[in-house]
Amino acid sequence: MTTLSDPPQTPAEQPSAPQAAMRLREIIFGAAPAAAVRAAARLGVADALGDTPATAEELAAAVRTEPRPLARLLRALTCYGIFTETEENTFAHTEMSRLLRDDTAHSLRHISLWCTEPWTWAAWPLLDQAVRSGRDVFDTLYGKDFFTYLHQDARDSAQIFDRAMTTSSRQSAQDVAALLDLSDATTVADIGGGQGHVLAALLEKHPHLEGTLVDLPAVVAGADPRLRDGGPLADRATVVPGDCRTAIPVRADTYLIKNILEWDDESTRRTLRNVLDAAAPGARVIVIENLVDDSPSMRFTTAMDLLLLLNVGGAKHTKESLVRRVTEAGLVLHDILEVNPYLHAFECTVPL
Ligand SMILES: C[S@@+](CC[C@H](N)C(=O)[O-])C[C@H]1O[C@@H](n2cnc3c(N)ncnc32)[C@H](O)[C@@H]1O
Repeated sequence: MTTLSDPPQTPAEQPSAPQAAMRLREIIFGAAPAAAVRAAARLGVADALGDTPATAEELAAAVRTEPRPLARLLRALTCYGIFTETEENTFAHTEMSRLLRDDTAHSLRHISLWCTEPWTWAAWPLLDQAVRSGRDVFDTLYGKDFFTYLHQDARDSAQIFDRAMTTSSRQSAQDVAALLDLSDATTVADIGGGQGHVLAALLEKHPHLEGTLVDLPAVVAGADPRLRDGGPLADRATVVPGDCRTAIPVRADTYLIKNILEWDDESTRRTLRNVLDAAAPGARVIVIENLVDDSPSMRFTTAMDLLLLLNVGGAKHTKESLVRRVTEAGLVLHDILEVNPYLHAFECTVPL
């Protein structure tokens, strides 16, 4: 309602005001599309839908839900380009909904589940607290750090995490293997290497190379079968359970540290210190990270940045912040290379 005391609106304000309000309303309901993607991923709707359109009744029978609420779920997702409604109550795939299939090469199904796990819904409301303190909220929520919580109290989530990391490792492993010239290397150690997909890709590409995978015990327990006893790379691979913040008991001529220096600064300092303690002078240390200032999608990267603040008191790096971390640790930085549009490799050596 306009009153006589309202200041007159300028022509520029009039059309933009309702749009701004609607956009803000959509944003404050941001949990709804995230929850809808999670529900579709858990129900397996994308896998149930083939190449031809299907009715909500047919899909509901396949994924064992009620047809009406499933149609409502799908309609909500179509607003974001995830599935499309070809005629009343009949749905087909789009490029985005296909990415929720399990069997697609660049599937985001496990990543979708990981980014919407129950702990995320508990942590987001404490974002103001994290912004005020600059610290993670896991101590407040569960009285322990994130990875301890994950492995002790949320084992289903830990499995989803490992699967999500494995999917993204698989997708980037080939890019890392293509970029790195390891023809002069004899041993490579992947620190915080997850289940070892990057290491396996490197060993497959370089038959002369031996490799070591270091990660937390519960993670390496599920190491890639290619690296384990009986696997085709087992005679050139060693799997070491351990905490890289405590020690890195591995001597190698090349160390790979990919997507782990996003946690709190003290963990980064200790990990790099431990690499320097373990490595011989002249050893190569390659740090690979997503950079917030070189990202093709700032909405995605800044969301991940805030999630890292909530769970590990960490942050996505800028080129400058990562250069500072590696040089302050005592490494000599030689080059920064693009692995793919999302990842950059910082080529360093241990000083002679
Ligand atoms: C984001 S994932 C990256 C995995 C892998 N490097 C990659 O790029 O696909 C982070 C990894 O760090 C591992 N991690 C976390 N804390 C660790 C610790 N204290 N010591 C060793 N690994 C740790 C996690 O288990 C996880 O595999």
